[in-house]
Order: sequence, then structure tokens, then C-alpha cells
Amino acid sequence: MKLSKRLQTIADLIPENSNIIDVGADHGLLDIYLNKYKNCTCLATDISKPCIEKAKENAIKYDANIQTLVNDGLTNINLNDEIIVISGMGTKKVTKILDRNIKNDLIISSHTKINDLKEFLKSKNYQIIKEINIEDKKIYTIIYAKAS
Ligand SMILES: C[S@@+](CC[C@H](N)C(=O)[O-])C[C@H]1O[C@@H](n2cnc3c(N)ncnc32)[C@H](O)[C@@H]1O
Repeated sequence: MKLSKRLQTIADLIPENSNIIDVGADHGLLDIYLNKYKNCTCLATDISKPCIEKAKENAIKYDANIQTLVNDGLTNINLNDEIIVISGMGTKKVTKILDRNIKNDLIISSHTKINDLKEFLKSKNYQIIKEINIEDKKIYTIIYAKAS
């Protein structure tokens, strides 16, 4: 399976055997890739039921083993050691989702107000350990941040 350049860049940041929560997973392609090719355990969540139905169909199509959940952000999800991926949302939504007590590694690709995102991460005592700008029709910034 082929991911978009942006999703492939995110996948490349994730170590093998990681536990992933993908918020706003849409059709689950990132999670399916990570499960199949990097042996990751993935929870693909999305606020949209049709998106999650499609993710389930895709998991069958590509013979991947992922968990799926229709959910608003991280509501009612118990966090452990997972890497949280939030990709393809604006900073306002991302910060709303992350505005809770959180220590997990974060991979965020927001398409708006990157400086506001950086300020938010700083206020939460997160350090940006990688920042990648890629061109995939538009310029996208992908940030890997760790709690300090
Ligand atoms: C543009 S898509 C991005 C899909 C994929 N993550 C990517 O980067 O290509 C944004 C997704 O976020 C979902 N979404 C929006 N708000 C959400 C929320 N509060 N909680 C979970 N998912 C949300 C939408 O339903 C949509 O599927």
C-alpha cells in the first residue's frame, strides 16, 4: 500500500512495535501501514462513524489488525505509553484535544497556526525533538514532541 508523502513521513518517525493512538484517523491508512509494516498496535479513532466504517473495511482489505473507535478526540481514552498522532486538523482543534493532563509522545501535523501550536506545547512542558516541513501539494509541518 502507498501512503501520501505526508503520512509516509509520519510513519517513518514511528519506531517499530510502538503503541499508537491515531486521533482523526479518517480511513485508517496510517494505522494499517504501521500495523502491517512496523508491527505497531494501533487504535484508529475518528469522530466520524462513516470514516471508522471505512477504516474497518480497509483493515480487512489490507489484512491488518487494528482497533477502531468512533470518538471525539481523546475523550474517555485511558492513556499509557502510546504515541499519539494527530494529523490533518487545525491547531485550535489539536490543542482542544490535547488540553488535558498528558505525558505521551506526540506527533502532530497541523495545517494552521504552527506558532500557536508550538506555544501550546511549550506551555505543557513539551519539547519539540523533530520538526519536518514537507511539500505534498502544500507545505506541511510535522512535529514530534516529548514531555520534558
Ligand atoms: C483531514 S482528515 C485527516 C486524516 C488523516 N489523519 C491524515 O492526516 O490524512 C481529519 C479527520 O479528523 C477527524 N476529526 C475532526 N475532529 C475530530 C475530533 N474532535 N476527534 C476525532 N476526530 C476528529 C475528521 O472526521 C477527519 O476524518
